Amino acid sequence: MGLFAPLNPLLAPWPRVRVWVIGASYGIGAATAQELLRAGARVAISARSEDKLRAVAAGDPRALIAPLDFTQGSDVAAAWERIRAEWGGCDLVLIVAGTHKEIRAWELNEAEADALLEVNLNGPIATVAAVLPGLLAQGTGAIGIVSSVAGYRGLPKALIYGASKAGLINFTETLYLDLQPRGFGVYLINPGFVATPLTEKNQFNMPHLITADEAAQEIIAGIERGDFEIHFPRAFTRQLKFLRLLPYRLYFAAVRKATGL
Ligand SMILES: NC(=O)c1ccc[n+]([C@@H]2O[C@H](COP(=O)([O-])OP(=O)(O)OC[C@H]3O[C@@H](n4cnc5c(N)ncnc54)[C@H](OP(=O)(O)O)[C@@H]3O)[C@@H](O)[C@H]2O)c1
Repeated sequence: MGLFAPLNPLLAPWPRVRVWVIGASYGIGAATAQELLRAGARVAISARSEDKLRAVAAGDPRALIAPLDFTQGSDVAAAWERIRAEWGGCDLVLIVAGTHKEIRAWELNEAEADALLEVNLNGPIATVAAVLPGLLAQGTGAIGIVSSVAGYRGLPKALIYGASKAGLINFTETLYLDLQPRGFGVYLINPGFVATPLTEKNQFNMPHLITADEAAQEIIAGIERGDFEIHFPRAFTRQLKFLRLLPYRLYFAAVRKATGL
């Protein structure tokens, strides 16, 4: 493979692509689903809130509404079967769903940690486990997983959130190593701060905050380029990638200075 060749196979033009977006009732997933519909793709949209999914679809005949709780294996299996039955296959599964809760060391309790890991780590892994046999049988397809730059290294207030996202980054890297030689696409999507219901409750200044529509455009452009890691906004993620290289002494000092925590 050439040094500048895309790490993932390029998809067909959007009007020929069937996409399943999980976590599409609001926030980044909803914006991505709407942008994909505008681009002409067929888009199955899933999350728990059926009314919100209907609003996202806005009556578009290329939208397929498949409500589910992605932490429930039977929900995911039933939706996957229905989507493939209606479309005869699926080319791209985008796992966007996730949640957030600030936790500091002195607030840590097992029940809250389990709940966060269930949605942010076990949910995506179980979903991949559910869809992979079908994709492998199809012989082509791609999976995109939304993690976060919060998974790069430890950050204050992200005691479990960061761990879930670091786990998801590692999982997605390993998925790529296994699936890329077989011709499947795997995308690791690492957003910086995006204005959505998830970040609405943040009390701190969020540097380089972008809109959900901007995030959706970044995700779609990254997939079109065949990138492995789709990270944005670059002005912010470049800084974090640099911090990732620092030895701990310098990294911890830089984080304390930047956050005041
Ligand atoms: N916003 C940011 O700054 C930011 C930054 C980095 C990474 N991320 C990541 O990007 C992803 C999307 O974030 P967001 O800001 O758009 O979040 P959001 O506004 O809270 O939206 C989350 C979406 O996930 C769905 N969801 C949550 N739990 C679910 C479940 N158990 N089953 C099915 N769907 C579920 C929600 O729908 P229902 O409630 O209807 O189920 C909603 O559609 C998350 O993985 C998040 O960690 C966000």
